[in-house]
Amino acid sequence: MASSEAILQVFGSALFTKPDSAYSLGSFINYKKRNRSNAIRFPTTPTIRFENLKNKRFESFGCKCQNAESVSGFTAENENGTWFVDNAKEFIPIQETDANKLKKESEGLVSDIIEKEAWDLLRESIVHYCGSPIGTIAANDPTSSSVLNYDQVFIRDFIPSGIAFLLKEEYDIVRNFILHTLQLQSWEKTMDCHSPGQGLMPASFKVRTVPLEGDEKATEEVLDPDFGEAAIGRVAPVDSGLWWIILLRAYGKSSGDMSLVERIDVQTGIKMILKLCLADGFDMFPTLLVADGPCMIDRRMGIHGHPLEIQALFYSALMCAREMLAPEDGSADLIRALNNRLVALSFHIREYYWIDLKKLNEIYRYKTEEYSYDAVNKFNIYPDQIPPWLVEWMPNNGGYLIGNLQPAHMDFRFFSLGNFWSVVSSLVTFNQANAILDLIEAKWGDLVADMPFKICYPALEGQEWQIISGSDPKNTPWSYHNGGSWPTLLWQLTVACIKMDRPEIAARAVKIAEGRLAQDKWPEYYDTKRGRFIGKQSRLFQTWTIAGYLVSKLLLANPEKAKILMTDEDSELANAFSCLITSNPRKKRGPKSSQKTYIV
Ligand code: GLC
Repeated sequence: MASSEAILQVFGSALFTKPDSAYSLGSFINYKKRNRSNAIRFPTTPTIRFENLKNKRFESFGCKCQNAESVSGFTAENENGTWFVDNAKEFIPIQETDANKLKKESEGLVSDIIEKEAWDLLRESIVHYCGSPIGTIAANDPTSSSVLNYDQVFIRDFIPSGIAFLLKEEYDIVRNFILHTLQLQSWEKTMDCHSPGQGLMPASFKVRTVPLEGDEKATEEVLDPDFGEAAIGRVAPVDSGLWWIILLRAYGKSSGDMSLVERIDVQTGIKMILKLCLADGFDMFPTLLVADGPCMIDRRMGIHGHPLEIQALFYSALMCAREMLAPEDGSADLIRALNNRLVALSFHIREYYWIDLKKLNEIYRYKTEEYSYDAVNKFNIYPDQIPPWLVEWMPNNGGYLIGNLQPAHMDFRFFSLGNFWSVVSSLVTFNQANAILDLIEAKWGDLVADMPFKICYPALEGQEWQIISGSDPKNTPWSYHNGGSWPTLLWQLTVACIKMDRPEIAARAVKIAEGRLAQDKWPEYYDTKRGRFIGKQSRLFQTWTIAGYLVSKLLLANPEKAKILMTDEDSELANAFSCLITSNPRKKRGPKSSQKTYIV
C-alpha cells in the first residue's frame, strides 16, 4: 500500500475516534454474593458504555477524506517514489536519497497514525465495573449481527491489552483485572452437578446491569463469569489461570508494586492454580493432560492430550509462580513439587517434542514394539506416521517443537503460540530457541506470507478435517483455528525474537501487519494459505489484534521492557536437568530406591 494512500485510509478514523482516558480508581470494591445466581453484585447507578461507539466507529470510517497534503506536505509518489509537491503544488523532481528519506518519514508518520488509532480503539474497548476499568471487551464489531460471547472480557484476550497498559505505565486496569478475576476463581462452578477444581479461572466474564433486588428503580452491576459451562463445546479454559500468573508477575515487574503479589488472597490464588495443575493423577508424563480446546484453540481441533501451548504456558506459569510465592512453611511441599515438575517438564519437552532434520531421520528409522525400560522409541511411534508434507517441509537448518505427544502418536503440526512461548519462558534450550527462529525465517512464506501469523501449520484437510474437527464449518482448511492467520500472535513472536536478540524478524512481521490491519478494520483472523482474505467469520475490531500490534510496536521500540514477560533458566534447574540427561532413560532403570529425585 502506498504510504500516502495509507494516510488517507487511516487519518480520518484517527481523528474521530475518541479516547477514553479518564480512569480514576479508588479502593477496591466489596463483593456481595447473590442468592440466586453465580454473579457478584454491586449497587451502582446505571451506566451504558458501549452503545454510542458503533455510531462513532461508522463516523470515523466514513470520514477518510482528509487530504494528504494537510497531513504531511507529501503527495502520492510515482512508481519511483521520486516526486515531491511543495505548497505551491508544483512537482519538483528530487534525488533518490531524498525520496527514500521522505518515504521513510511518511511511513513513520503512517505508522504513528495507525498506532494512535489502535490506542483509541483499545481505550474504547475498556469495560468498567462500578466505575473502574477492569478489562477489555473481546471485539467491538459494529458490523457483526451475532455477538455470541465476543462482548465479554476474555482472560487470554486481555493479556496483550494488559501488557500494553503496563508498558504505558497505566497500572490500575491490570491491578483491577487481577483482583476481580481472582474473586471469580473461587466461585462455585458446576456443569450437570459436577464441579471442576477450585483453582480454575474463568474463560471470560461479563459485566451485567440488573435490577437491584428489593428496589425496582435502582440497578446494580454484576460480574458474570463463564468457566466453560456456557462456552461453545463446554471446554474448560486451562490457559486462563496460567496467563493470570504470567500477567501478575509482569504487573509486579513493570509497576514495582509488590504489595499486590504479597497479598494473602493473591498468594492463595497462585497456590490454588498450582495445586490444580500439580495434582497427582494417572499420568506417566510430566506434561499437563487436558481435553480438546483448552486454550486459544477453544474448539475441537485434535489438540487433546498434551498440547504444546498448554505445556509452554504451564512451564512459564511455574517459573513465574516460583519467583512470586512467599517462602513459608506451609508452601514447602508445593515449592518442592513445582521444582521437580519444572525439571521433568523441560526434560520431556526438550527431548521428546523437539524435531529437526536429524531427529526426523531418527524417527524414520525407529524400531517399534520395544518392550523394555531402555527403549529408544519409548512412545512406540510408527515411522509411517511421519506426514509426507513434513519430509519436504523440514528445512536443513532449524527445528521446532511438535504440537502434541501421546502413546503411539506425534502431532507434527507446527503450533505457533506454543513454540513462541517455549522460547520466551526458556522451556527450550538456547540452541533450540534459535533453531525455532531459523525455521520461522526459512518458512516465512508458509507461516507469515501476507499476514502474521499462522496459528498452526499445515491445515487439516479432507477426511482428516472431517474426523478431527468433526466437520466444523468454522475450522475449514486455512481458516480460523485450522491454519488461519492471527495477527494477535505478533506480540508473542516479538517477545520471542527480542529474547533471542533477533528483533528484526518481528519487525518484518509487524511491517506486513501494519500495511493491512487498520485498513481491514483490525480483523480477528485471516483465511487462505497466504492469509490474503479477512477470515470468513472473523470479527472486526478484535481487541487482541489491536493490543497485540501495540505491544509489538512498544516492545520493538523498547526491547528491554520485554523482560517483564521472559524467564531465564536458572543454574540450579540447568544442573538438575543435566543430571537427568546423564541418568537418562536410554540407560537401564534401577530399582526405585536408587533413583535420584531432583529437588532444586
Ligand atoms: C475465539 C478464540 C479464542 C478467543 C475468543 C475471544 O473463541 O478461539 O481464543 O479467546 O474467540 O476472542
